Amino acid sequence: MAEASAAAAPGPPQVATAKPTAAAPTAKPVTGHKQELKGNGPTAAEQAMLQAPITRREFLNYAFLASLGIFFVALGGAFFVFALPRFGAGEFGGLFTLGSAGDAAPPLDDAPKSNTAARAWVVQTDNGVLALYNVCVHLGCLYGWQPVTNRFECPCHGSKYQKDGTYIEGPAPRSLDRFVIRFTGADGNVISETNAKGDPLPIPSPDANLVVDTGKIIQGQTHG
Ligand code: FES
Repeated sequence: MAEASAAAAPGPPQVATAKPTAAAPTAKPVTGHKQELKGNGPTAAEQAMLQAPITRREFLNYAFLASLGIFFVALGGAFFVFALPRFGAGEFGGLFTLGSAGDAAPPLDDAPKSNTAARAWVVQTDNGVLALYNVCVHLGCLYGWQPVTNRFECPCHGSKYQKDGTYIEGPAPRSLDRFVIRFTGADGNVISETNAKGDPLPIPSPDANLVVDTGKIIQGQTHG
């Protein structure tokens, strides 16, 4: 009888706890980088390498490679700049296209033609055309053509030169300097060009264009 009353007495409420079973294991949620490790991402060792600070040796290697790259870029830029023409067409030091030979070069018996922009006297001689640099080779004055005496004369110290620039007299140490000239066709191709001695260049045809290269000067011959 006592046993029956003890079994019937109300006790403290029972809390039901669910016990995992072998058939349904509890799935733990995976978050953060642990999730990447479960996939195809880098392994823990690889990730540790990625996160590790670079060593001094690696830093120096990177710095060396960077400076090498900068050096080659600068070198390429320098080559590019030097490959460009230093002076534009129509600028002293560059090319001057004076027009067809028939118009640009004076007739044989005429006075030389001055071209101020090119700083040249264009002369026709028995052997061809010349472009004389208009600066006296003594001390740099501008000489002029004297039709009465049929020669070039310098107003500063009296040096005198023949029509083709050959020294006659005065303190100048040599004959007048000449520019390299060339004749070009309608397509721009060079037909002929002044030789290394600076000899007069025969006109190939009246239609050929006369080009004066003021970037190339051939010094006049010295005299004894
Ligand atoms: S500068 Fe021409 S003679 Fe002196």
